[in-house]
Amino acid sequence: MSQTILTGLRVNSEITLGNYLGALLPMVRLANEHSDEYEINIFVPDLHSVISEIDGKLSENLLQSIKFYLASGIKLNQHVHFYRQSRVPAHSELCWLLNCLATMGELNRMTQFKDKSAGKDSVGVGIFDYPVLMAADILLYNAKYIPVGEDQFQHLELTRKLAERFNRRFGEIFVLPATPLEQVKFMHQSEGIRIRDLQNPEKKMSKSTVAENSKIMLFDTPEQASKKIMSATTDSLGKIQFDMFNQPGISNLLQIESLISGVPLQDVISTWAGETHYGDLKQKVAESVRVLLSDFQEKVNTISDQQVLELLEQGEAYANKVANHKLYQVQQLMGLR
Ligand code: TYM
Repeated sequence: MSQTILTGLRVNSEITLGNYLGALLPMVRLANEHSDEYEINIFVPDLHSVISEIDGKLSENLLQSIKFYLASGIKLNQHVHFYRQSRVPAHSELCWLLNCLATMGELNRMTQFKDKSAGKDSVGVGIFDYPVLMAADILLYNAKYIPVGEDQFQHLELTRKLAERFNRRFGEIFVLPATPLEQVKFMHQSEGIRIRDLQNPEKKMSKSTVAENSKIMLFDTPEQASKKIMSATTDSLGKIQFDMFNQPGISNLLQIESLISGVPLQDVISTWAGETHYGDLKQKVAESVRVLLSDFQEKVNTISDQQVLELLEQGEAYANKVANHKLYQVQQLMGLR
C-alpha cells in the first residue's frame, strides 16, 4: 500500500478561519503538490461530531465541508479520495481494538479532554475516547503526514505510541505517522499552526468562543470579517515583528497574512520589519481576508450536492477496500481471524 497524506475536519457547526488556515488550506496545498507520490485522503469525521452538540444538520454540514476543499482549489485525480468516517465501519472496529491497548492515564493527559471536561460533573465517554478513534482514522491508511493545527499534535503523538505498541506486541503492521516536527517541515512551516483569538490572542481561535469579534467564520460577510481584523487586539510596543510571546496579536496577523498569500512567514516578516504603523498591517490583512472570503463563498455556491455525493461514493468504495484490508491483517495478528 502506498503512503498517504490524510486529514479530517469536524463539522459540528460552521468552521473558523483557524480551521481553514490550520488544516484545510495546508491540505489542499499538499494535495496539489504530492498527489503523484501519495494517496490523498480527506474525510469527514462524523463519528467524532456526535461526541458533542451539533448545530444544524450534520448531513448537510458534511456535504458542505467537502465543497470547502473543492472551493479552495484542490485538483482532483484518481489519488484524491473523499469519504465519511461513518461509512467506513473499519474505523470503529479498529478503534475498539486500539482501546484495548491505550491506557486511561494516556487519555486523561490529553489537553483537549482536560479542556472539554473541565468543571463538568458528567463527561461523555466519547470525549475521553476521541483520540483513539483519531488514531484508527490515521493508522488504517498508512498515513504518514497529517496536516492539522498545533492543537492536534498531542493526538498525533498518541497515535505514534499506539502504533508502536501494537507493532511491538503483535507484529509490524502500522506505519508510524511522522513526528510533529517532521509534519511541520513537510507543511513548509517553521512551527505548528495556531491561529489566535482576535480579541484575546493568548488563546487559539475557536468556534466555541462566544465573543463574535474573537473569531472569523468562513461564512461571515467579507466586510464583517475585515472589520474584525481591524479591531483585533494588538499591543503598545509600536514594532511589527514576529514574537508570539510578547506580541501575539501582531504575530497572529503576520501568520494569517503568510498563510493566505502562500508567502513564507519569514518573507512576510521581512517585508514588515522596521514598520511601526499597526493600522497599515491590519488594513493589509483585512483586505486579504476580505478577498479570500468573497472568492471562497462565491465558489462554494457553484458546487452542487450531486457532485459531492459522486465523489463520496467513489471515495467510500476506495476507503472501505483499503481499510478492510488493513483491519483484516490486524485481526489476523491478534488471533481474531
Ligand atoms: P477539529 O475539527 O477540532 O479541527 C479541524 C482542524 O482545524 C485545526 N484548527 C486550528 N488550526 C490552527 N489554528 C486554530 N485556531 C485552529 N483551530 C482548529 C485543528 O488542528 C484541526 O486540524 N480531531 C480532529 C478531527 C480528526 C482528525 C482525524 C484529523 C478526527 N480524526 C484524523 C486528522 C486525522 C478535530 O477535532 O479537529
